[in-house]
Amino acid sequence: MAAPVAASAPGKLILFGEHAVVFGEPALCTAIDLRTEVFARPHAEWLVDGASLDDPKYRYVKAAVRRSRMENPLWLEIRSMIPTGAGLGSSAAVTVAALGALASLRGAFDPPAIAREAFEIEHEVQGRASPIDTSTATAGGGVLVRPDEGDDLLWTITRDTRRWCLHRCPLPELTFVIGYTGIGAATGPLVAGVKERVDASPKAASMVREIGHITMDGLVALQRNDLVAAGRLMDQDQGLLDELGVGHPMLDRLVTAARKSSYGAKLTGAGGGGSMVALTDEPERTAQAIRDVGGRPFLVHTDPVGVRRMP
Ligand code: PMV
Repeated sequence: MAAPVAASAPGKLILFGEHAVVFGEPALCTAIDLRTEVFARPHAEWLVDGASLDDPKYRYVKAAVRRSRMENPLWLEIRSMIPTGAGLGSSAAVTVAALGALASLRGAFDPPAIAREAFEIEHEVQGRASPIDTSTATAGGGVLVRPDEGDDLLWTITRDTRRWCLHRCPLPELTFVIGYTGIGAATGPLVAGVKERVDASPKAASMVREIGHITMDGLVALQRNDLVAAGRLMDQDQGLLDELGVGHPMLDRLVTAARKSSYGAKLTGAGGGGSMVALTDEPERTAQAIRDVGGRPFLVHTDPVGVRRMP
């Protein structure tokens, strides 16, 4: 039997700018050291983890297969360390890793093309989205998305009238503690809720712009390794996100518990449940504090490696 080809891609953590990015503000994201691997080998019929590609839980992989226009069927296997539904980019990572494995088989492994395809797939499967998750899973390391082109441009992505410029954004090695609330929340309705507020209220619109400033200040603070300033900005960002209606009582509990041993803490991703992130140099203590109030903690580190073919 032919040897499998494989590719892996990292999960992601949005550090600053979620929701505001939907309105053209910048957002900062880092890849994390939890990865998804996809293996592919020629087979008599299409299979994924031994099951049908039509199983709804494989819709991202199915879309990747359809777009890759493979001539012959494959047997795909997925191995993932990224918890699903926790805002850590598991769907982006599986999409990017699947596209990476399929591209390797065709001898056409091209990260910018993978980033664009993966964004289209997320858009197709989950509706309105920014390309930050899929581009971070592709590029690895720190990624800044902005509406205009700056230094260290990785690639641009356009859709309808919208255009995102993805930039490489070096970050120091950092440890974060994630606290998963255990509450799943769909991104689409949360994004729609913020849009309603922004359309109805100039105050909400100015909060979105304020998040944009916080993102750029947060980036400078992290690059200077000024964790005190970065933490303070995370706390401010959390306050604004809460006012925009994407908080949750359980997020508040985890954030409050984590802050006792952290520089700062905020929700990460879409909110409404999902996960929070704490910046801390006492990760074990912070993880325990999160556990004590009913959250599920994960320690993660920044990961510089994006999509890659596996030997
Ligand atoms: O649900 P997540 O973790 O992919 O985060 C969504 C981030 C938003 O800014 C709310 C939406 C987006 O696509 O950027």
